[in-house]
Amino acid sequence: MSAFTGNHILSVSQFDREQLEQIFAVADQMVPYAKREKVTRVLEGAILNNLFFEASTRTRLSFGSAFNLLGGEVRETTGLKSSALAKGESLYDTARVISGYADIIVMRHPMEGSVAEFAKASRVPVLNGGDGSNEHPSQALLDLFTMRKELARFDRDLDEVKVAMIGDLAHGRTVHSLSRLLALYKKVSFTFVAPKELGMPIEIVEYLIEKGHEVTETQSLEQGIADVDIVYQTRIQEERFSSQEVANQYRGAYRINQYVYSQFCQPSTVIMHPLPRDSRAEANELDTDLNENPNLAIFRQTDNGVLVRMALFALILGVEEKVAEYARPVNWYIGKRF
Ligand code: CP
Repeated sequence: MSAFTGNHILSVSQFDREQLEQIFAVADQMVPYAKREKVTRVLEGAILNNLFFEASTRTRLSFGSAFNLLGGEVRETTGLKSSALAKGESLYDTARVISGYADIIVMRHPMEGSVAEFAKASRVPVLNGGDGSNEHPSQALLDLFTMRKELARFDRDLDEVKVAMIGDLAHGRTVHSLSRLLALYKKVSFTFVAPKELGMPIEIVEYLIEKGHEVTETQSLEQGIADVDIVYQTRIQEERFSSQEVANQYRGAYRINQYVYSQFCQPSTVIMHPLPRDSRAEANELDTDLNENPNLAIFRQTDNGVLVRMALFALILGVEEKVAEYARPVNWYIGKRF
């Protein structure tokens, strides 16, 4: 049993550094299961309900895979229109009902604060899979886990790291959560690159400064990505704008390709993105010509997401020390994915 057992994961504000280390240590133990070297059935009989009332590929599927990899079953609903919320059912009633069906729930919803509201009525732990522009805690955890691993290749850690966050910082919940988590480390240098209207919310900037970090805000990509350890590119969150036309004014404002990287970044700068990257010609925010760049970490981020989400399930359901006890070898061809 740990401090996580039976608890919701709603905001990164609930973590301290010690807890982050605990999550990351459990995530490291999940590697043989995620790599299909071993199978564990530690959650056999447990049920996850995945409630995704807003579009998702990676968060929904990696949470589902993580639960399956621990031996549990997954039931899902996707889209607001296909749920009873569209018939006027409240979050309270939905939570009371669904928490009778499952041992744990992951929820994504377009409204800020909705997952916390749902969690108040839930009888089982709830994980925030993204609530509007507010927070995306599991993404921030996997991003931080990835940053640690990427920096370790250069004998660095997160203290005194220099990070540039780029794009729609006003609506991007991943950068909101990630900034607050990074603030737990020492003397972090944040550079926020965004159009004037899409800057990082002032309360987050003030929070980072109050915690003793350096914050630079600029509209210049070239200036922002020079001399940083990590470039964290983001998508214009078109679903949060009043119209597609308004969003289109910003799409393509900041494009990073191999030429831009070679011209302006340090040779060791790590490139990250929570994904999806908008690869349409008018946006092309992270060009596919970076795919062979060894410092492009975007697909390592997605792989790490499974490890971190397995760790969260194991810790919340109190089985983190029993995973190996329920392990056995795999008996199928595992391919060359890893
Ligand atoms: N990063 C992320 O949240 O991706 P999805 O929207 O595909 O879940």
